[in-house]
Amino acid sequence: MKRDWMELDKEYLLPTYGRMPVVVKQAEGMYITDEEDNRYLDMFSGLAVNILGHCHPLLVEEIKGQAQLFSHISNFFYNKPAILLAEKLVHYTFPGKIFFTNSGAESTEAAIKYIHKYGKAHDRKGMMVFKNSFHGRTSGALKLTRMASVQQDFDTIEAPVYQLDGQDIDQLKDFIQKHKPAAFIFEPISGSGGIQVITKDFMEAAERLCKENQVLFCVDEIQTGMGRTGKLFAYQHTDVKPDILLFAKGIGGGLPLGGILVAEEFSHYFKSGDHGTTFAPNPISSALGLKTLEILEGGLLEHVVEMEAYLMEGLRKVRESFPTLIGDIRGLGMMMGMDILGDVTTLKDDFMKKNILINITNGNILRLLPPLIIEKGDIDIFIKALTEILTEWKD
Ligand SMILES: Cc1ncc(COP(=O)(O)O)c(C=O)c1O
Repeated sequence: MKRDWMELDKEYLLPTYGRMPVVVKQAEGMYITDEEDNRYLDMFSGLAVNILGHCHPLLVEEIKGQAQLFSHISNFFYNKPAILLAEKLVHYTFPGKIFFTNSGAESTEAAIKYIHKYGKAHDRKGMMVFKNSFHGRTSGALKLTRMASVQQDFDTIEAPVYQLDGQDIDQLKDFIQKHKPAAFIFEPISGSGGIQVITKDFMEAAERLCKENQVLFCVDEIQTGMGRTGKLFAYQHTDVKPDILLFAKGIGGGLPLGGILVAEEFSHYFKSGDHGTTFAPNPISSALGLKTLEILEGGLLEHVVEMEAYLMEGLRKVRESFPTLIGDIRGLGMMMGMDILGDVTTLKDDFMKKNILINITNGNILRLLPPLIIEKGDIDIFIKALTEILTEWKD
């Protein structure tokens, strides 16, 4: 019996997502194939997760290999793939210690608890963030947990949040002086918030201010990390060094994994029992993370930089032809945003008709997050489709 997957989805799943009409049958490399055998070019890679595209043969092999050894153990035991992954991440970033999670929001939760512990020790409270920031969607399991040893004083986490209007160093300074916050947490490029790139100058000035004032400098690289911008982490385009680095998405090679890396000098604030989770770090996700890093090391970062230049040139040429339909184009590596000046309601469908999957964020921003294995030929296909769509819009 042929089943109507879209109807079944509507019947059994809460309607939190605006899905595209694609029932996935299979995916490989840059392409996703649906039940009707339509083949789509994937320009957003599971929202920055499938950085090596779909079903990379080396990752498939790795999944099989690790699944035959063990696929879950609890944190009561030592987990070799996770230890190796932590070692490698530290090697590529800065000395410190990791707490692994299953997702981006859980990484943010771990950071919030960590910042709370740090704040208590230094008589500081609260966090500074950017307007339009996105750090996750969870809300408060610990408030309902009544085991004193687990809840500790986390239920009273008083975390006032101070919102920066933009990259305004004076406002940051003002908040620090007035409120004594414990941390500043930000995305180097806002993902969901519209691909706003934080400048090197702002980042370095903000880091200086934070370090002079005992404010933890926390960089959320959940979306920008794992080679997305042409460096392993986007902060590496600057001279800053995070006190806490948040990661997730691509780190598990397509499976759930995330975490925080706390710089060595601050790594003594969590003690045994202060935080925990059942699943993370999943051994298969960890093994995939290791393999992904190995593949990234083998020239993929350079490839991302090359593709960035090619994509940017293509996008700028399209803008020259349609200056009234395309505004600002910005981003780094394979994380690009483009302001669409027309009505974007049909844009996803327009691309789907041309067998391309794209993502729109924060109103009218076309966000491109393709797998990092993208080639010039794929970019040509995208640029041709964009040109055709805008020509149709104009007519
Ligand atoms: C910068 C950033 N932080 C946190 C999150 C939350 O991650 P997750 O959806 O895995 O909970 C996201 C997800 O898009 C993100 O882009």
